Amino acid sequence: MTEQDFIPKPYSKTIEKGSVTWESPSNIALVKYWGKKESQIPANPSVSFTLNDCKTTTTLSFSKKKSEDAFSFDVYLDGEKKDGFKPKIETFFKRIEQYVPFVKGYHFKIETSNTFPHSSGIASSASGMSALALCLTSIERGLTGDVDDKYFTQKASFLARLGSGSACRSLEGDLVVWGQHHEIKESSDLFGVKYPFEVHEKFKNYQDTILLVDKGEKQVSSTVGHNLMHNHPFAQERFKQAHINLSALIKVFKEGDLDEFINIVESEALTLHAMMMTSMPYFILMKPNTLEIINKIWVFRQETGSKICFTLDAGANVHVLYPQRECEQVGEFIKNELVAHCQNGQYICDQIGFGAKEIV
Ligand code: PMV
Repeated sequence: MTEQDFIPKPYSKTIEKGSVTWESPSNIALVKYWGKKESQIPANPSVSFTLNDCKTTTTLSFSKKKSEDAFSFDVYLDGEKKDGFKPKIETFFKRIEQYVPFVKGYHFKIETSNTFPHSSGIASSASGMSALALCLTSIERGLTGDVDDKYFTQKASFLARLGSGSACRSLEGDLVVWGQHHEIKESSDLFGVKYPFEVHEKFKNYQDTILLVDKGEKQVSSTVGHNLMHNHPFAQERFKQAHINLSALIKVFKEGDLDEFINIVESEALTLHAMMMTSMPYFILMKPNTLEIINKIWVFRQETGSKICFTLDAGANVHVLYPQRECEQVGEFIKNELVAHCQNGQYICDQIGFGAKEIV
């Protein structure tokens, strides 16, 4: 598939107005996307767990307008008008206009809400952009008539990518790959695809407890962060390593080797942060509590033989990953030992999920 495949033929139908609603989850990368080329093309392939409970619900109401000279939309979060969100959406609309040319022909009301607390430090861009992309793709399906499900998902993921790279991994469950990888022939730089190979039952209902260490605004925006990989002295090695780690994970997913899973996932998280610490300008996004948590996880693993591990986003919060069969034991450990390091004791229990769905 190429970008051209996402430019639609002239629409065969007209619709005056309507509304669509999609619910879309967040995701957590195991092999991280960090660094991109022009047009949100990733510098390396990544793979993520789709989450179940951290999600965004977006209703997109649309009505035809007379002129097609500018984008016209209003945004609401939890019923409150949010003009502060408009520039990001305007940029998104500009990027996707040639692929969904109807966007200038309508006025949109975007009503969105998240299941996770606002300003929790959990990025809402993946779930938010994928929900919006799905809504737009749904409207386009109404204008073109029949579109098969596979193309629908690819197009929505393609559009989501142009909103926020990692958003293209938020449409399907439960493992999604984005970025070309030589062992995964269906993988693409343009959109996410469902992980196509065997996954051991040990990964079924894998748990992710998100410890909210720092709920503040992101210290480094993703855009700035990705740009730090241009001219980064270790960038090329890092991109190679992501390919190698994804290859290794294919074997891990098949065989259920949780020790190797832990090695790869924790190394990926620390590498992401190492890239930020060694870029110019440099950043430390972990907080003292992030390190306290990591150390406690390592001690607990050593002492109990648990398969608990951690991963990190580009921030201080910690995602604690563990098999479902360890729910009770790890749950106790989190409550007794780790919650003390969370801001206001806040954390969110989540697990692998099945992807986005339309609400009708
Ligand atoms: O989608 P973006 O541009 O916000 O980048 C997200 C990057 C990480 O979350 C740090 C890693 C990833 O692959 O999700």
